[in-house]
Formats: sequence, C-alpha cells, structure tokens
Amino acid sequence: MSTRPLVIGNWKMNLDFVEGLHLVQQLGVLLKSHPLEHVEAVVAPPFVDLRTVSSILDAERLAVALGAQHVNANENGAHTGEISTSMLSRLNVTWVIVGHSERRTHYHMTDEIVRATSQSVLRAGLRAVLCVGETLAVRDADQHEAWVESQLRSALEGLDASLHPLVTVAYEPLWAIGTGVNASSEQVKEMTDFIRRVLTSLVSSAPQVLYGGSVTPTNAATLVGESGVDGFLVGGASLKAESFYAILRACDDCYALKR
Ligand code: 13P
Repeated sequence: MSTRPLVIGNWKMNLDFVEGLHLVQQLGVLLKSHPLEHVEAVVAPPFVDLRTVSSILDAERLAVALGAQHVNANENGAHTGEISTSMLSRLNVTWVIVGHSERRTHYHMTDEIVRATSQSVLRAGLRAVLCVGETLAVRDADQHEAWVESQLRSALEGLDASLHPLVTVAYEPLWAIGTGVNASSEQVKEMTDFIRRVLTSLVSSAPQVLYGGSVTPTNAATLVGESGVDGFLVGGASLKAESFYAILRACDDCYALKR
C-alpha cells in the first residue's frame, strides 16, 4: 500500500434519509472518539439521502467524503428519472461509482455506457471509481484476467491524460458480492497486481486499486495486510457504523504498520 488507504461505503438501495442521518451521526461519534490518521473514508448513499448526508458531514466537520452510486452520462435534458454530474457536484459529491456490476447486469449498463459515464464524471472533475470484475463462470473458464482487462481497456483507452489522476479502480468479482464468500488474499493480490499492470499501459498516474466483495470487520485486516490492495469498496458492512468503522480502522492500522 503506497498511498493512503481508501474505503468507500456503498449503501446500495438501503437506508432512507433518516436512517442515513443516524448512521452518519453514529459514525461521527466513533471517528471523534477514536480518530483515524491515514485512511480516506467515503460514503455513497442513495441519491435521495445525499443532501441530508452532505449537511451532517459539513455540520459535524467529519473527514468523510461524499460519493454517488451512479450518474447519467448526459449533461442534462430529457432523461426522466436520471441525475447529472452537475447535480451531484452541487451537493458536494466528489466521488462517483461507475459501472458497478449490479448496474451492468440488471440495468443494461454496457461497456460503451460505462465509458461514456466515466468520461462524463472525470470531465466534471469528479473522481470515478471504475468497477470491474468477473462472474464465477468466467473465472472457472480461466478467463478472468482477459475479462477484466477488456473492461479496463474499454473504459479507459484514449482517456485525456489530464483526467488520469481522477481514476480509481475497484475489483469486485461478482461471485464475492453479497455472498459472504470473499476472494482470498491470494486472489485479490493476483488480480490487483494484474490490474495495476494493465493500468500502466492505459493511464499515466498510478490509480488506487480497491477490492470489493463480502468485506467485513473480520476479514478486512487480513485482506488489506496480505494482498497489497489500496482499500475497499464495502457493501453490506457499510450499513452499520460499527462495522464500517472497524474496516476503516483495519486499513488505518495496516497503513501505519507498513509505512
Ligand atoms: P458486499 O460488501 O455487500 O459484498 O457488496 C460489495 C459491493 O458490491 C460494493 O460495491
């Protein structure tokens, strides 16, 4: 881990704005009583919670950045039900998750749309967390590297160099998401090393590479300590302040030890 660790809580379609408010307040209590020194924390609530969460982060002066789970690639116009990057920026959102597998699988987010969305996010000056990862069938066929490389190339090839520093990648194998079966430290290491190698041919910066898929307070310390990953994209365990804080703490401690 060469840079400060990054941990992003993806709340998915959970927690209304009142519940979100409570979670961030509880997280704030933990962060104030046991401050973290190194880790960069981000929460990505549902769109309708953003305003409330933004206000509480600001009022409590919490060192937690705000992320969105998705955005439309267009600037504005006739896109009923969609949200634009400028709307997110106005709410102090600085991170956007792009191409999460749930959007790719269930909402027809093709590689082309992922590319357009990444570009739109980056051009707006927001930081993109590009999600890549294979299904179990692809891994069983030993095609996971080719699959992930193709997702990376399709999203990032030819990207304007000025935008490279805004790119972060999250490796989220679909078979590990929400299953309780995380990828092993060896698997995470193998794939994050591979992703870093592919990225050297695509971007001039050295993007942080995160892992996501059944990360919990129990496995976080081992995963971050053994795999060399730069942090986590956390789903279920980010819905409780204690478990999200424990994962932040594991990354903070690991960075302090290895530095
Ligand atoms: P879980 O941590 O619930 O497996 O979700 C991972 C994920 O998809 C984060 O984006």
